[in-house]
Amino acid sequence: MSDAAHEAILRDPSEPEIGPIRSDELEDLFVLFTGVVARREGYPQAPPLTREVFDATWVRPVTVVIVARVEGTLAGAYYLKPNFPGRAAHIANAGYIVDPRFRRRGIGRLLLQDTIARAPEVGFDAVQFNLVFASNPARQLYEELGWREIGRVPCAVEGEDAIVYWRAVE
Ligand SMILES: CC(C)(COP(=O)(O)OP(=O)(O)OC[C@H]1O[C@@H](n2cnc3c(N)ncnc32)[C@H](O)[C@@H]1OP(=O)(O)O)[C@@H](O)C(=O)NCCC(=O)NCCS
Repeated sequence: MSDAAHEAILRDPSEPEIGPIRSDELEDLFVLFTGVVARREGYPQAPPLTREVFDATWVRPVTVVIVARVEGTLAGAYYLKPNFPGRAAHIANAGYIVDPRFRRRGIGRLLLQDTIARAPEVGFDAVQFNLVFASNPARQLYEELGWREIGRVPCAVEGEDAIVYWRAVE
């Protein structure tokens, strides 16, 4: 997308459209996640992001990937997948990203709200986040939407603690 097109969207934003990813959007998601990993934002994956690591996060073990589109442009996404095998596979793991150009406009909140509604529909009764960096401002959003801190991993990523969050979604 050109800068002019992006400026036009910001001037006259329409409601983001939320829905399952299309196969032709996978490349845009790769580019978006590559940037997040390169900036060391919220995920432990080490830069530079490889296709293999991207696939292992967003493609192969994933139950569903949901995206937010603004005027047809991929602005954010989240994945849902079992956090544990077998008898604990009823607990999902989820991960969220929003394009920096579209942040602080409520898209992250929409994706979280979508998770709460959608996770039970695809067979989960709880959603757990394993490694939320202690400094991540998203913690405020998670707590506001009902996730509770159930643990803390000391020195998880480059010396920083990480928080484990859990929420029932039945
Ligand atoms: C976390 C992330 C998905 C939030 O997306 P977003 O669309 O900007 O979030 P929203 O606009 O819906 O913000 C919702 C709330 O989250 C909190 N929040 C989000 N970003 C924040 C920031 N940079 N500073 C302070 N609060 C922030 C605020 O409480 C905000 O509510 P408010 O706007 O009413 O104050 C986005 O910043 C991102 O992609 N970060 C990099 C990847 C990442 O850290 N993912 C989470 C891994 S655990």
